[in-house]
Amino acid sequence: MLPQWIIEKKRDGHQLTDADIDLFIRDYVSGAIPDYQMAALAMAITLQGMSAEEIVALTRSMLHSGNILNTAALGKSRHAQRVPRIDKHSTGGVGDKISLILAPLAACCGLVVPMIAGRGLGLTGGTIDKLESIPGYRAQLDEAAFLKVLNTCGCSIISAMDTLVPADKKLYALRDVTGTVSAIPLIVASILSKKLAVQPDGLVLDVKWGRGAFMAKRAQGEALARTLVATAQRLGLNTRALLTDMNQPLGRSVGNALEVIESLEVLQGRGPSDVIMLTLELGARMLILGHVAKDWQQALSQLRAKLASGEAFERFKNMARLHGGDPRALDPPSPRLGSGLRRGRGGPARLPVAAASVPLKARQSGYIQKVDAAAIGRAVALLGAGRARITDAIDPAAGISALKKVGEPVSAGEALAWLHTNRPGQLAEARAFVKAAFQIVPERVAPPKLIALEIKETTK
Ligand code: URA
Repeated sequence: MLPQWIIEKKRDGHQLTDADIDLFIRDYVSGAIPDYQMAALAMAITLQGMSAEEIVALTRSMLHSGNILNTAALGKSRHAQRVPRIDKHSTGGVGDKISLILAPLAACCGLVVPMIAGRGLGLTGGTIDKLESIPGYRAQLDEAAFLKVLNTCGCSIISAMDTLVPADKKLYALRDVTGTVSAIPLIVASILSKKLAVQPDGLVLDVKWGRGAFMAKRAQGEALARTLVATAQRLGLNTRALLTDMNQPLGRSVGNALEVIESLEVLQGRGPSDVIMLTLELGARMLILGHVAKDWQQALSQLRAKLASGEAFERFKNMARLHGGDPRALDPPSPRLGSGLRRGRGGPARLPVAAASVPLKARQSGYIQKVDAAAIGRAVALLGAGRARITDAIDPAAGISALKKVGEPVSAGEALAWLHTNRPGQLAEARAFVKAAFQIVPERVAPPKLIALEIKETTK
């Protein structure tokens, strides 16, 4: 079978066999199939779609392109019982820092959270970039080091490695530059192959739809969520998905170090209410899936207690330290997010702070009707936090903080947001994007519903 025959088969709308898909993925990872043929197949899949059987086969082939984490030595409790492994994944959005909070929080509540996360692409931020703004944090661990961190503190957030799911590492970079990122079959296989490689007992997904997500329309987001849950279940992974609104940024900060600071606030029992709410909603589902809470009320009270006591914050610091991060950079007092950030406190052990911080002030009084996540994402990219290619460097200090949220009142002259950058030449253009992101109206506006839908099981 020649690779071009498989490409032609998909181009013409036919179903690929398991053997076709296996051959393609195996030979792509080995280098026998070049990028241009993989790109052609990815585009054919984007245009023609895939059946449920093909998506399962693609996920399996990608999963078996590398090792499966050897979890035999992982997570034994004092009573020699295996600690449940529950993972969480978001399809990505502007200001989405929930994984940073949830991994240590769920670990404090008795779960092992083995998380392989990604870097930011396009407008959506990446968990790994956020963590790497902590001085010294190393996201690229090998399997033995990953297992060691998991056994020591119950959670670890790493980037994809060459030994686990190499097909995704290679294919994701290719999709990014070939207009094939938003194809549902490719997203599903990418996410689930990574998740299955760490052999979790359950998975909670946050599927985003809206201006700041891959899926701009709610119906597309719902289709993605349903396909993720259906595919995971066919592969034997107990999965729940929330479909959540990403039309305005999540929280009040967007940008890598700024989002770490906001996460630290939530881990210390403060922070924006939408971030807290979504953390608790996703976290409660993780605890119930892992059977460490018997019901919703118990799950919520465990999570709240771990935030209020500071235990989740200490766990995050411990995880960061085990990854080589300097915990002194995480200790309070962190810079205030509600104003311009003060520079220059401490040396390299501080989270990076930008040279210039300027407010964008409201021209009129009223209520915030819209904060366009796509425009905010673009502004943040211009300020230095975005990358056009997966290999591009980013500025961890760049971003936007103190964002007003939809439904909030604002007075003329009050700051709608603060912009932070080391590239003052980009400020004017970034400001124009932030200005265009906001709509202010005289009448009251109800805050939008963050969670649109929960998908637990599939109807097949
Ligand atoms: N997240 C992933 O891991 N893969 C995708 O394709 C999209 C979001």
